[in-house]
Amino acid sequence: MNIIDGKRVAESTLRNLKNQIEHHKIHPGLCFILVGNHSASQAYVKMKKKRCEEIGIDSTVLNLPEATTEEDLLSQIALLNENKKIHGIIVQEPLPAHIDPKAVHLALDPSKDVDGFHPINVGKLLMGDITGFPSCTPYGIIKLLEAYNIQTSGKHVVVIGRSNIVGKPLAALLLQKGAFADATLTVVHSKTKNIEEHCKRADILIAALGSPHFVKASMVKEDSVVIDVGINRIEKNGETTIVGDVDFENVAEKCSYITPVPGGVGPMTIAMLLTNTVESALRSK
Ligand code: GUN
Repeated sequence: MNIIDGKRVAESTLRNLKNQIEHHKIHPGLCFILVGNHSASQAYVKMKKKRCEEIGIDSTVLNLPEATTEEDLLSQIALLNENKKIHGIIVQEPLPAHIDPKAVHLALDPSKDVDGFHPINVGKLLMGDITGFPSCTPYGIIKLLEAYNIQTSGKHVVVIGRSNIVGKPLAALLLQKGAFADATLTVVHSKTKNIEEHCKRADILIAALGSPHFVKASMVKEDSVVIDVGINRIEKNGETTIVGDVDFENVAEKCSYITPVPGGVGPMTIAMLLTNTVESALRSK
């Protein structure tokens, strides 16, 4: 069994980005918009901002009060769309209930939508058009497979979960023609009958459903690859810990490769966000 070290791959991706920024003498600018006081979102943005500083991306955080109207938020986005120094805009989710995330995604200039949430970028992803921005977690998973030379061509990949942010765009990437794609795909979800039977047939099993320790050894084929996308906060002995969608202790021995949580897919999401931002700055040069 081999552990896929996402932290190491992410660090190497970030070093590469730093070199690109220096080599091309660009000044990428990224703006985070935080609405309200969601503590997990604040922690994520802090971490993303730190990574920006490490590699030479100028990042700013726009903190807006919980009561901000959708109209006000869209006006702020319009200003950032016009700002030549800003190459990427991240509106951190979840948003307060009175703001429609779909309206926010549509308001972003697609060329600054480094999250890959605008329908134009989602459409481009589906069509294999590389002028868009792929959404970061699925993009990071493909890059992890690539880093470990885990081939997907003709392999049976089972994705658990059909969210707009992971399951669906990941399915689109794996179905493209080309290297680290060309997969035979099954997507299972909450309405699927006999999930376990489907999972057991996977050469590569990707868990992205958001349910702590959902995947057990009985659901995994011997020598398969298991990718855990889950970031679940649970209370254990009075403390909050983060666990994945895979019961790592139970499953690991059965796999050829497995990602840990933390230190697997998570760091890659940030690395791909910054990859999209540097790409945006290069395109605007
Ligand atoms: N909330 C949790 N993950 C993400 C992400 O990747 N992008 C945004 N905008 N919000 C998030």
